[in-house]
Amino acid sequence: MHDLPLVISLDHTSSTNSHLANMWRNEDGQLPPFLTVVTDFQGSGRGRLGREWVAPAGTSLLASILVPTKVDHSPLLPLAVGVVVSDLVQSLLPSKDVQLKWPNDVLVAGKKISGILCEQLSPEWAIAGIGINLLQTADQLPPVPATSIALEGGPAVSRDLLALSLAASLQDLIEIDPVELHALIEHRCSTLGHRVLVSLPVGTTLEGRAISLESDGALRVEDLTGTEHIIRAGDIAHLRTSATAPQLTTQGGRS
Ligand code: BTN
Repeated sequence: MHDLPLVISLDHTSSTNSHLANMWRNEDGQLPPFLTVVTDFQGSGRGRLGREWVAPAGTSLLASILVPTKVDHSPLLPLAVGVVVSDLVQSLLPSKDVQLKWPNDVLVAGKKISGILCEQLSPEWAIAGIGINLLQTADQLPPVPATSIALEGGPAVSRDLLALSLAASLQDLIEIDPVELHALIEHRCSTLGHRVLVSLPVGTTLEGRAISLESDGALRVEDLTGTEHIIRAGDIAHLRTSATAPQLTTQGGRS
């Protein structure tokens, strides 16, 4: 049994990831593992690939968890966090189709409900930043397909409790053997087997089928000519098998 992680709750901050990183630096790295910072509002919330993450005050779970990383675990951390978040979302919306889209977006019925931003502080420590749309109304979400727990008919739950639950689950998950963790993630990541459109950071796109995950969490995609590509960064749209229209999902907060 572990001690329960400590949760620090703030009215507002610039970004919970930045706040926790500053605390870690100010304390020379001497902070308890799985220490979690949660806030009602971020003035400069950050998303993947340098984007902003914006949510009206009091509408979202905005949390960052300090994670001790073993060298062999750390590349899988963003996906492991995705597993923990998708489990939590599924528990709040038991009758809904919750999916983990590579690298770590959580979707409900194809709409983004959560985004995750992991940042490595040192070889031994990382921060897992998690945004989950909780109470947003449709007009408080971005125009891309996005949803919230409330819009899906889920309950209103204390943000501190949700953050504690995520930190405790991550504490358990991160302890399992990396090979088992990889297998568990492959089983849970709904991108695998899907036709996908990959938007690469360089601005080009690639269409194909997602076939497997590398040991470091990179996505192996077979393009339409049968050539395989290893994708380490980018956005994925799941394509319907028989249609050409992509179900594009880029941001869960408002950018
Ligand atoms: C994404 O682009 O999908 C990732 C979004 C991650 C947002 C969360 S909100 C809490 C934490 N603090 C931040 O500044 N970002 C992450």
